[in-house]
Amino acid sequence: MHRTLVIIKPDAMERRLAGEIIARLERRGLDIAAMRLLRLDEATARRHYAEHREKPFFDELVRFITSGPIIAAVFHGPKAVEVVRETMGATDPRKAEPGTIRADLGTDITHNLIHGSDSPATAEREIALFFPGEKP
Ligand code: RTP
Ligand code: MG
Repeated sequence: MHRTLVIIKPDAMERRLAGEIIARLERRGLDIAAMRLLRLDEATARRHYAEHREKPFFDELVRFITSGPIIAAVFHGPKAVEVVRETMGATDPRKAEPGTIRADLGTDITHNLIHGSDSPATAEREIALFFPGEKP
């Protein structure tokens, strides 16, 4: 069993797509282990996306992810990291496979609705950032 961090991004919240996105993840056989509604402050956003610090899109990414409320959630189940990444689709909705969340519902590479951890190690670091009390 793995666990992974999911963020329902501000564009999904504004468009009332949170329920649809959560339902798609549940239908893949994943369970919700923790969930909270919050608004990210700039410092936490920069830490969460620290690997992209030097990228040209970093400031835009931080501005977007802090622009409105988000849902942070831990999903768990067999191969949770891979299952979430598959269900999300590629980063750019225009390049994502039809049937994925980003292809079906996403707008552009910034407004791509959902974050999912990219490895089990990343998942543990990200879960610790959003759910400091949560045991593995
Ligand atoms: P995420 O971390 O949000 O789950 O997305 P990801 O793994 O599919 O993509 P990643 O490479 O980690 O990039 C993080 C977020 O940065 C924005 N981005 N913009 N303008 C650009 O070229 C660009 N590239 C990436 C996206 O919003 C992406 O989700
Ligand atoms: Mg990523």
